[in-house]
Amino acid sequence: AEQKATNVHWHEGDITREHREKILGHKGATLWFTGLSGSGKSTVAVELEGTLHEMGILSYRLDGDNVRMGINKNLGFSAEDRTENIRRIGEVAKLFVDAGQIALSSFISPYRADRDQVRQLHDEAGMEFIEIFVDCSLEAAEERDPKGLYKKARAGEIKNFTGIDDPYEAPNNPEIHLHSDKQTLQEEVDQILAVLRERGIIK
Ligand code: PPS
Repeated sequence: AEQKATNVHWHEGDITREHREKILGHKGATLWFTGLSGSGKSTVAVELEGTLHEMGILSYRLDGDNVRMGINKNLGFSAEDRTENIRRIGEVAKLFVDAGQIALSSFISPYRADRDQVRQLHDEAGMEFIEIFVDCSLEAAEERDPKGLYKKARAGEIKNFTGIDDPYEAPNNPEIHLHSDKQTLQEEVDQILAVLRERGIIK
């Protein structure tokens, strides 16, 4: 018979992250890429996303285009705005983890305290947070200068540019330390996959 009951609904919280992870067959986690502009954060995240997809693992990339042009389009590059940028991205990443997915976040996230705050929020929720330092010398990043921004920063046309006249605080103890000016893309992806397996996030 057709069901017309109006007061039938799931109680909030009946379905948890664990239930969703069971459907997906892997755990949720945030992979937090941090590094200078032009260090290769997005490049590694995109490559990893492709590999995970082929393995049947659900991941979602949080990156400049879908964040700084959307939810965070009212934020600039002052210290306060960068902090708020990272805070919001951290919260969004947590929602993806709660959905059972692997959030791939690639932002400069130059301040250690901001990254540690996101880590703490994950810890408190019992969620995996894996900090990935995409280490690249300023010289190499500036040499690449894919968007011509270092050139503009050196010419004084962009103020407060990370690495030039704004700080970048490298992680002290990242779960994963990549050297994007020395390793191949495949080596970087393999290094990350090994840690995901070690931690039982993927099989
Ligand atoms: S942050 O510091 O985490 O809030 O920055 P993020 O959201 O990752 O944005 C960095 C990209 O914005 C461009 N851009 C700047 N970067 C650093 N400093 C200044 N002042 C700046 N102005 C614009 C730049 O293209 C960064 O892109 P990526 O992809 O990192 O190279």
